[in-house]
Amino acid sequence: MEFFIDTADVDEIRKANEMGLVDGVTTNPSLIKKAGRDHEETIREISSFINGPISVETLSEDCEGMLKEAEEYMTWGNNIVIKIVMSPEGMKAVRQLSERRIKTNVTVVFSPLQALVAAKAGATYVSPFVGRLDDVGHQGMDLIGQIRQIFDNYQFDTKILVASVRHPVHMLDSALLGGDVATVPLKTLMQLFNHPLTDKGIEQFIKDSKEWAGKALA
Ligand code: E4P
Repeated sequence: MEFFIDTADVDEIRKANEMGLVDGVTTNPSLIKKAGRDHEETIREISSFINGPISVETLSEDCEGMLKEAEEYMTWGNNIVIKIVMSPEGMKAVRQLSERRIKTNVTVVFSPLQALVAAKAGATYVSPFVGRLDDVGHQGMDLIGQIRQIFDNYQFDTKILVASVRHPVHMLDSALLGGDVATVPLKTLMQLFNHPLTDKGIEQFIKDSKEWAGKALA
């Protein structure tokens, strides 16, 4: 399973990248707003040190506008993926981009049939939002299993990009259910390192090594 980082905060991306945990980046208009910087400048900077795919979301509601934005975004880096919302106009745009072998990521997906529609349009990635489903009392991860089964039934190449990940159990379930990618905030990435027995084990090793080193020196 690939790890993408779900942020437009360049410092966070650099931090995760130094730990070798960034196979790609996803952004959206809310994350750009939160980062508080110019959209183009931010994406160009990310693209200067990240080799993996960087999803940049179109803002238009019609296919023509989305395609125009896609043309511009493609000039911001070599690794740009055009992120497009699930809608009839969006799928028209995805089809045209995929015919030109331009990578796409279909976002705000909440049902297996939306994922099927995106795959049929030729999407490179489909982004089911598991956390937002949990928020309204659904089992977000059920969607991942359903999409996996549908894509495997018909050998779609479209990758399942598990999105709206909120905690490590989402990561575990994504990996168990065959998600191709999980896009994750830095906080959740950092939580993956944690285990109380690891902390306890390290503490004991340090304590023992100090005693042992003390004896060796004496
Ligand atoms: C995915 O591409 C989205 O940017 C993101 O995962 C949405 O997450 P949220 O529901 O925490 O906003």
